[in-house]
Amino acid sequence: MGSIKVAINGFGTIGKRVADAIDAQEDMEVSGVTKTGPSFGCELAIKKGFPLYCTFDDDDRISQFSKKGYSCVGGLSDLLAISDVVVDCSPGKLGAENLEKYQSAGIKYIFQGGEKHELTGLSYTSSANHLENLNAIGTRVVSCNTTGLSRTLVPLFEHCGSLKVECTMIRRAADPGDSGKGPINAIKPVLKVPSHHGPDVMTVKPEIEINSLAVAVPTTIMHVHSIIADLPKGHGLDTDSILRMWTDTPRVIIMNGLEDRIPTTAEVMEMARDIGRKWGDLHEIFVWEDGVKLVGDRLYYFQAIHQESDVIPENVDCIRALMGVEGDWRKSVLRTDEAISRYYST
Ligand SMILES: NC(=O)c1ccc[n+]([C@@H]2O[C@H](COP(=O)([O-])OP(=O)(O)OC[C@H]3O[C@@H](n4cnc5c(N)ncnc54)[C@H](OP(=O)(O)O)[C@@H]3O)[C@@H](O)[C@H]2O)c1
Repeated sequence: MGSIKVAINGFGTIGKRVADAIDAQEDMEVSGVTKTGPSFGCELAIKKGFPLYCTFDDDDRISQFSKKGYSCVGGLSDLLAISDVVVDCSPGKLGAENLEKYQSAGIKYIFQGGEKHELTGLSYTSSANHLENLNAIGTRVVSCNTTGLSRTLVPLFEHCGSLKVECTMIRRAADPGDSGKGPINAIKPVLKVPSHHGPDVMTVKPEIEINSLAVAVPTTIMHVHSIIADLPKGHGLDTDSILRMWTDTPRVIIMNGLEDRIPTTAEVMEMARDIGRKWGDLHEIFVWEDGVKLVGDRLYYFQAIHQESDVIPENVDCIRALMGVEGDWRKSVLRTDEAISRYYST
């Protein structure tokens, strides 16, 4: 099969990152990206050479782009007509409306974690259920938090055969580019308990029994998860072997807060900037080695999630699953990550 043509509907925080990750791959290309109207993000699309389309099909809105000096190729329908799959990166809750458009265009689709599992009846993370998504018409890449939980819990579950988890999501209040969200001087508990985050893991790995609470805190850079997992009797693990298991897990980074002098999310983000990916992204889940401890059969640990970027390589793997070109999730992950690494090192 030739290069997979991928449309990005919504070129915002997630959309622009997914576009770059696709551009890095040899087996896929960005057929176009959409914006609702001319704004600063259009410049980036033009600079990258991504064909720019309007989110809507009406001529009035399309013509607004040229008035601001941007060349707009057409409306969403034109883009869907020349693409194999669309990655929907629109703000959450627009899914139902957009799904109709994708279905009438007869195109495969991937939604993001701002949409509910019920929209697609299928969800995705690379390590949990790649095979289940093979050749599917459409799916949803779960949220940044669910992706993060899945990265460390799935290998643990696969070793143990069962797992009961309680966790607290300590959530960033807003993305760095958002000016309309908060809190800015408060800690805000999510009063819908349990929160949706833990149970959302069960949309990709239903066998993991998990519940969660969530609080929003005044930071923009990362989420932190505080996790307690009860392992079944006879698991045969100790703290060191769990750390080794995660060291061998793709897209998990383990460092020692004290010895590596990386005690908070501020230093983790500084380390991410050193890696050299654009926007200072960290696709990996960060686990503090000295914050992991197995006491009896109960495992305690903390992990940090770069909310804007951990789902990005998952979208690439998900495209391969839907298009039926790679059934082995580990091979896809390796291919995705090596390509991204080359892309940013040249
Ligand atoms: N940000 C995160 O940390 C994060 C992490 C994981 C998952 N997600 C999920 O990813 C999705 C996108 O979030 P985001 O943070 O990237 O949002 P965002 O930064 O607000 O970007 C949304 C993009 O969608 C465009 N858009 C607006 N209305 C649209 C419509 N009707 N159809 C198509 N596109 C439309 C916007 O266009 P304009 O630029 O023209 O306004 C913008 O480019 C959501 O489901 C979210 O829950 C977000």
